[in-house]
Amino acid sequence: MEPKDRLIFALDVASREEALNLVELLHNDVGLFKVGWELFMAAGPQFLLDLVGNYDHSRIFLDLKIYDILNTLKGALKNIVSGVALVTIHSDLPAGGLTAILKEIDGGFKVLAVTLLTSLSGKNLRGLGYAAEYAEDPSRLVLLRAKSAQAAGCHGVVCSGQEAGKVKEACGQDFLVVCPGIRPSWSAVRGDDQERVVTPFEAMKNGADFIVVGRPIRIAIDPVAAARQVAEEMTAGLAARGK
Ligand code: C5P
Repeated sequence: MEPKDRLIFALDVASREEALNLVELLHNDVGLFKVGWELFMAAGPQFLLDLVGNYDHSRIFLDLKIYDILNTLKGALKNIVSGVALVTIHSDLPAGGLTAILKEIDGGFKVLAVTLLTSLSGKNLRGLGYAAEYAEDPSRLVLLRAKSAQAAGCHGVVCSGQEAGKVKEACGQDFLVVCPGIRPSWSAVRGDDQERVVTPFEAMKNGADFIVVGRPIRIAIDPVAAARQVAEEMTAGLAARGK
């Protein structure tokens, strides 16, 4: 796998046309395309079917962070468009019931649990009623949830690059770690909502299998050049791993 194959581009746009233009523009320079709520609401499952039909199956990540009672979760997972490679669920779900569901579902996709949104800081957690130990150090909550997701049979987690190393250490190298909240030093995102951010270099150095980048590439004057720059920094991060 080349470093660019580990780069997931977030298609956070509000129309099918805009999304297809970005896919056309970037398909040689990124590994996977991530469809989240904004595009899913605008273009629906049909957009996924079109992507699956036109590009390699292993390149589509459906990031709806599904969170519901187990019966509804099961129904949603059973109905995911066939050909999607990665799917996210919430990690705040009972491990026992989740295990049974994941054993039953064979949609051909890998299930990742979102541990804690990268837009949340320790301060946010305090305000949301989390125990002081998690507000002081959100990585503790990420680790707790990563271990629970692994016990339930998830293939990996989504966490920030700040926690990637700890998750790999606790859950092993085969447990996938996917990191959003990536901000290269040159990123021009204004009024950013992301909190637990790292550079592409740091995320890869810390052990991420994949990184998710949206705005730093999308709003760049030249998105292709930005994606290539990110891939270069990823290459350097991979080389620095373990040193
Ligand atoms: O534009 P930006 O690089 O911040 O995009 C990050 C993407 O990763 C968004 O699509 C967001 O929904 C997603 N994401 C995240 N934090 C998580 C899980 C997913 O930012 N914990």
